[in-house]
Amino acid sequence: MKTALLTGAAGKVGTYVIGALARRGVEVVATDLFSEGIPEGIRFEPCDLTDANAVRRLVSLVKPDVVVHCAAVVAPIAYAEPELAEAVNLGGTRHLIDAIKTHAPDAFFVFVSSYAAFGPCAPGDPIRRSTDPCWPDDNYGLQKLTAESWLRYSGLRQCSLRLGAVMCIDELMPAHPSYRPFVFMVPLDQPEHGVHVRDAARAIASAAVQQPDGHLFLIGGDDSWKVTARQLRGEVFSAIGLSMPPEKAFRPATDPSVKDGWFYECWMDEKQSEQALGFQRISREAYMDELRKRYRRRRLALLPIRPLVSRTLTTASPYTGKRAIEPGATLWNDVFRVYDLPTEVARTRSSQPPPPSPFATPPSP
Ligand SMILES: NC(=O)c1ccc[n+]([C@@H]2O[C@H](COP(=O)([O-])OP(=O)(O)OC[C@H]3O[C@@H](n4cnc5c(N)ncnc54)[C@H](O)[C@@H]3O)[C@@H](O)[C@H]2O)c1
Repeated sequence: MKTALLTGAAGKVGTYVIGALARRGVEVVATDLFSEGIPEGIRFEPCDLTDANAVRRLVSLVKPDVVVHCAAVVAPIAYAEPELAEAVNLGGTRHLIDAIKTHAPDAFFVFVSSYAAFGPCAPGDPIRRSTDPCWPDDNYGLQKLTAESWLRYSGLRQCSLRLGAVMCIDELMPAHPSYRPFVFMVPLDQPEHGVHVRDAARAIASAAVQQPDGHLFLIGGDDSWKVTARQLRGEVFSAIGLSMPPEKAFRPATDPSVKDGWFYECWMDEKQSEQALGFQRISREAYMDELRKRYRRRRLALLPIRPLVSRTLTTASPYTGKRAIEPGATLWNDVFRVYDLPTEVARTRSSQPPPPSPFATPPSP
């Protein structure tokens, strides 16, 4: 039986990857900062990936056959806490690659990346393919792209999966306070490519078992999942019993030819990834049905106070109320003001410019 070391195992995606790996006969060693949400019977080894010595100890102890690297500081937390994002998304990934090269050099490395790596996408832009050039304009996307390229030139056997918007059943609004205003900062015309969390986990586990060396996979749901933010949010709000906040609460659409007025979410050509990994089982309609069933009781309970809840939600919008901001020319203008980021972060959109690959010089084209 193969042993997989799974980072970020207590996270939104990681908890589902545990089951998907176990169902494929892989022994899972779960690691994260905390063990909440890890099922009993799964070996758990706590580790802070920003601590290089702790990562070395963990890898030499486990000696995995495969590493599935899910841990990250995701957007928008990465915007509100840029130093932490850099320490985990770059530093943590580098520590893991270093430790694997030293203590488990034959292990296959599966890196869970994001469609943030492509950079901003406006309505009407062509569907994204894995061979497309990337221009990430936020720290999170830049960190994901940098980590992909470090891994590619690390000498390890590896693949990366760029996930679209992962849709869960529980914890639709994570507790971190950065999420509340951010809901409103993505324009409603933004193209979004959703994928059910169970399908995303299936893709990741499939890659861990098949070990397709050197591949980059785009992981989104089937065509039913290629929608706008307006449609996806509207359906989710309705399924859980809330009214969609008014249009004026959201960042207005800007000229589509000015790319950095838009977020990185896009539609991806996921067909080849589906052929290789066979992960798409759940359509958008089936997901909404599942949500409606799960939230049935809460929907009924919310009915009398729907307008009040909607008004309270809308107060989190940075574009309404007493402290409303004027939408800036770029989405980043708004991010810096809303999260009160220092100017050097505003300049580089990261706490530092991306470090060059510590592993090897990329071959010349
Ligand atoms: N959720 C999405 O919509 C989405 C979309 C695209 C890509 N992704 C990628 O999928 C992966 C999983 O995302 P998620 O939604 O489960 O995120 P999550 O925030 O729910 O989980 C991330 C996990 O990483 C752990 N972690 C953070 N810092 C750590 C550290 N210093 N040491 C060890 N562990 C640490 C956290 O404790 C958490 O459990 C990430 O790599 C993310 O970039 C997610």
